[in-house]
Amino acid sequence: MADVQKHLWLITVLQYLTKKDKPFLWVDTHAGRGLYDLQSDEAQKIKEYESGILRFYDDLINANDLPAPLAFYREKIADLNKSKDQLTIYPGSAYLAAKILRPTDKLYAFDLHKGEYPYLEKTLKNYIHSTTRFEDGFKGLKSIIPPKTIKRGGVLIDPSYEIKDEYANTAQAVINAYTKWPQGIYMIWYPILDKAFHFDLTEPLKALNLPDENFTIDEWHFGDVKKGMKGTGMVILNPPYGTSEAMFKMKIIYMKKYRKLMAQ
Ligand SMILES: C[S@@+](CC[C@H](N)C(=O)[O-])C[C@H]1O[C@@H](n2cnc3c(N)ncnc32)[C@H](O)[C@@H]1O
Repeated sequence: MADVQKHLWLITVLQYLTKKDKPFLWVDTHAGRGLYDLQSDEAQKIKEYESGILRFYDDLINANDLPAPLAFYREKIADLNKSKDQLTIYPGSAYLAAKILRPTDKLYAFDLHKGEYPYLEKTLKNYIHSTTRFEDGFKGLKSIIPPKTIKRGGVLIDPSYEIKDEYANTAQAVINAYTKWPQGIYMIWYPILDKAFHFDLTEPLKALNLPDENFTIDEWHFGDVKKGMKGTGMVILNPPYGTSEAMFKMKIIYMKKYRKLMAQ
């Protein structure tokens, strides 16, 4: 569920950027593996995908007239899985970006986990527009921006938020990056928990006082969840024209399906 919102935003913004021929730069500061094996021990333990991608996909497989980002998402899942009855692989942010970027665009993907990074390297090794680095994502971002040759583009920031300080630290890293590259698109994902730690992220970013058209907060609330994540959010600085509205439409489509499934 958490991934659906994040990945739809990613696809929507990247598809928008490909409308112009001019190359663009994309940075994934916390890229993860790129591809996830749903049968792995970790995935089986968390089973997060059950309320997200799997049920979502089942319900959408026969839907007609999907908005382009949803159709793309469905298509990529279908490409990765031989049988639609048993999904075993699902795409992560770096893989989706690699699929959308053109050879002239540039993708940088970072991960700082010894267990994750080799998978990321493997996922992206055949994409000539991609560079992976085993490095802290914020340090890596700082070294790339402002971009020298390819001037337009943006960043997906998707930390694990394992410690409370990570919310405030992420806000500060975004503010630092925005100061260096104010033209960039910044998309920051966060979980909505009981304790509402995410205000440490969203409040400093709101305090940037950007005009409405340059600042979006999108939150998807799961409803009556007693424990764990209550919903997910994204802050977007400089959302491309029309993308917030496009996402709102997809949120309605998805939330309707999600509520129906949860009521069963
Ligand atoms: C939520 S996961 C990323 C999921 C991925 N963006 C996706 O949508 O498929 C967060 C990732 O951040 C990585 N990570 C943690 N601390 C990091 C750091 N300081 N710099 C870069 N990556 C980090 C973790 O190893 C993990 O793979």
